[in-house]
Amino acid sequence: MFNGQLISYSGVQPSGNLTIGNYLGAIKNFSLYSEKYKCFYCVVDEHAITVRQVPAELRRRTYETLALYMACGLDPDKNTLYVQSHVHEHAELAWILNCFTMFGELSRMTQFKDKSAKHSENVNAGLFTYPTLMASDILLYQTDVVPVGIDQKQHVELCRDIAERFNQIFPDTFTIPEPIMAKSGMKIMSLADPTKKMSKSDENTNAVVYILDDKDTMIRKFKRAVTDSDTCVRFAEGKDGINNLMSIYSCFTGKTIEEIEREFDGHGYGEFKIAVGEACYDALAPVQQKFNEILADKSYLEAQMKKGAEEASWYARRTLGKVQKKLGFVKI
Ligand code: TRP
Repeated sequence: MFNGQLISYSGVQPSGNLTIGNYLGAIKNFSLYSEKYKCFYCVVDEHAITVRQVPAELRRRTYETLALYMACGLDPDKNTLYVQSHVHEHAELAWILNCFTMFGELSRMTQFKDKSAKHSENVNAGLFTYPTLMASDILLYQTDVVPVGIDQKQHVELCRDIAERFNQIFPDTFTIPEPIMAKSGMKIMSLADPTKKMSKSDENTNAVVYILDDKDTMIRKFKRAVTDSDTCVRFAEGKDGINNLMSIYSCFTGKTIEEIEREFDGHGYGEFKIAVGEACYDALAPVQQKFNEILADKSYLEAQMKKGAEEASWYARRTLGKVQKKLGFVKI
């Protein structure tokens, strides 16, 4: 809470590969959030290096991620958009929070267990303390709500535990944040296995449609989407593939399921799939165009990064200063 305004905080990994699931499920609704909350969106480059990165790619994806969020409608004048490593208080508070976090708590994090199995050659301490850096992100801004996917809920709960522990010793330091499940307008499923959620890290690239895919790629992926052996375009139990395509088509065109059934009455799946691909492209073409424009203007993008970092630093400095004072660090 700040000046009577509730604070929302979200971190995004610097990967330009956002999917139509991310778009329809979350990003498209971000502009609604900024009416209710003061919103921070942080590109978490420091979290990214817990697994090996190619430096030039990390740099490129940091720019791209910011540009893509802006292209999707996040207004940098209404929201604070910035890069984590530009605000050094994140790393500093993270160290302090490490001293208030138990080894056992971090050991129980399922993401740590999964990632250390997947990157067994590089189980570094940063991977282990990833959640304390995330807690630092959240707590620096006296955050009220953290919109996250279900996979990050455990980390937000740990953040609450750390904040409560700290507040017990040093009262009134941190606001206790609440995880909120990003109100998914829609849960978009994989095109290859419509019983699974569409995931940007799916190894089968035909399963996933990215916001930045070109038109031919989009149409090809929809053409190959797994569907049942029925031929009639209608929404029904057991027709997961068609149901998913109808939901996507409905989200992009604004048509209802009944309208879609009528529109494709007497037409086969093949024709419908192409229509879904075209509707998807038509809806995203303006986003892609805006993305390319923003990305081409590096000085604009850097100016926005700088503005965001300055705004964020103001909040971060206040909280870190308060914490250091409570801990007994000498101020000079
Ligand atoms: N760990 C989050 C993810 O992988 C990203 C993240 C970092 C985050 N810091 C955050 C999310 C703070 C919410 C709040 O998606």
